Amino acid sequence: NLRGAIFDLDGVLTDTAEYHYRAWQRLADEEELPFDRQANEALRGISRRESLLKIVGDRTYSAAQLEEMMERKNRYYQEFIESMSPSDLLPGVRSLLTELRQQQIKIAIASASKNARTVIEKLNITELVDAIADGYSVERPKPAPDLFLYAANQLKLPPAACVVFEDATAGIEAALAAGMWSVGLGPVERVGNAHVVLPNFADITWAGILSKLNQHLS
Ligand code: BG6
Ligand code: MG
Repeated sequence: NLRGAIFDLDGVLTDTAEYHYRAWQRLADEEELPFDRQANEALRGISRRESLLKIVGDRTYSAAQLEEMMERKNRYYQEFIESMSPSDLLPGVRSLLTELRQQQIKIAIASASKNARTVIEKLNITELVDAIADGYSVERPKPAPDLFLYAANQLKLPPAACVVFEDATAGIEAALAAGMWSVGLGPVERVGNAHVVLPNFADITWAGILSKLNQHLS
């Protein structure tokens, strides 16, 4: 009885997860804080502030310094997204969104990012979505269910009628905490708790997703 699809943005519809990583790496290098791709795994999907606090570890910074570092990272990130275009949609995304609309499934994007609306505009998918929840929408970040509940509310659907698409562990936890169906995109080490795991959206149809979710039910 699924009537709504809620998509995370960074790392699901487009590969901005890589840009977030590179922006943090540049900041960490400048501050001579130890950081690499492996450490970045723990940052996937979580808020800007929590990400910075994880990178900083037990090194002491003033509140003003932390603010400045968050702004600096965001500047680097915005430099990356400036040149984005519709060609940055990941394979299979546009056709899936189009299919969902044809099937009258409501579509929301629920991203922790305060840059989500900019990215959505660059990707030229604003017309395909019914609601957007972003880094300004709720107080408690993922893994709290709040952002997904906010999105479902915007779609006027109960949680159990929604399926969440996520690439981050924190996002799958948030979807499950919200009482929604979940599809994890990426390796099982990351999204293995989801009801269904897909490598990506290439050649993926709504019918295919439904049949995988049904297998889970039976
Ligand atoms: C999430 C990303 O979508 O948004 C995280 O997965 C990021 O990596 C978070 O930290 C916050 O984004 P922003 O753009 O508000 O710093
Ligand atoms: Mg993500």
